[in-house]
Amino acid sequence: MTETDFIFTQNQSILIPNGSATWKTPSNIALVKYWGKKEPQLPENTSISFTLDACFTITTLEYNLKKDKGKSDFTFEIYFEDEKKEDFKPKIQKFFERIEKYVPFLKDYNFVINSRNSFPHSSGIASSASGMSALALCIMSIEKELNPSISDEYFNKKASFLARLGSGSACRSIEGELIVWGEHKKIKESSDLFGVKFPYKLHKKFKNYHDTILLVDEVEKQVSSTIGHQLMHSHPFAKQRFLQANENISKISEALQNGDIKSFVEIVESEALTLHAMMMTSNPYFILMKPNTLKIINKIWEFRKLTNANVCFTLDAGANVHVLFPENEKEVVNKFIVNELVQFCQENHYICDRIGIGAKRLSI
Ligand code: PMV
Repeated sequence: MTETDFIFTQNQSILIPNGSATWKTPSNIALVKYWGKKEPQLPENTSISFTLDACFTITTLEYNLKKDKGKSDFTFEIYFEDEKKEDFKPKIQKFFERIEKYVPFLKDYNFVINSRNSFPHSSGIASSASGMSALALCIMSIEKELNPSISDEYFNKKASFLARLGSGSACRSIEGELIVWGEHKKIKESSDLFGVKFPYKLHKKFKNYHDTILLVDEVEKQVSSTIGHQLMHSHPFAKQRFLQANENISKISEALQNGDIKSFVEIVESEALTLHAMMMTSNPYFILMKPNTLKIINKIWEFRKLTNANVCFTLDAGANVHVLFPENEKEVVNKFIVNELVQFCQENHYICDRIGIGAKRLSI
């Protein structure tokens, strides 16, 4: 599919005066990371993520047809957890400008956006993936009203396509359980434009995989991912990094199909550390890990050596640690987390999450 396949052609005979749509959309955690992009929000390398389950956003979009349909600028109000948020407006305005070409009906409506997260706002968990994908799905629900003939497959692809234009990783938050974003010769149907489901059979060892998120630092990160992506343009190791990520996609694809958890662990941890190594070697350089991030990593390595458990970590663009482990080891790893790792979390905060199946419409 190409970009032009996503341009909406208005059916003049259908006019929806008002309505609302509510979507519950999960966050995701990348196993092979996306770090570096080109215009318009296209990834420099392929990434793959687990869709999460307990960390989600619920967004309701109310829409009312304007009297001066299509003529004025976008009009919308945003509420986050019942509080009006003027400071969220520029991001949404920019998102609407980017996607207008594909959903031109946006200017026909007055919108009220109401959003809430299942995780604390100041948890250091990025809400852009779940937030942008929820909004993209709400907008697609309007498109579906205007054009009921679109297929479910097109609906999901276009939702992912739109979400990508809001925040790259958001395109991986529409479906589950594993999503690939970025064209790759080993992944059938993969595309730079939207996320696709991992097209091969996932080995049963990875079913119900756990991700316990240790909240090491619950403050907003000092360097945004927008800046981080930009710094990859002039990064001395960028070219090599993009090649490495694409090789890791081939390797992890094999491991996920064969149930090779040892290789999975090696790739996932290396990816996490490489992401942070890119940050530490960019110009200007920066560090998002905290002392407790490293303490947790070392504890996990010690525990793995001692017990041979299949537990590993990954990191997002922040200090929090995602602890990944299979379903059949949950008792022993949960005990380890509670007894040895939670002490390094801010106020002992952590979230027990697991691999999920994707977004769900809550309203009819
Ligand atoms: O979606 P963005 O632009 O916030 O970038 C997110 C990048 C990482 O979370 C660090 C990695 C990834 O692939 O999700």
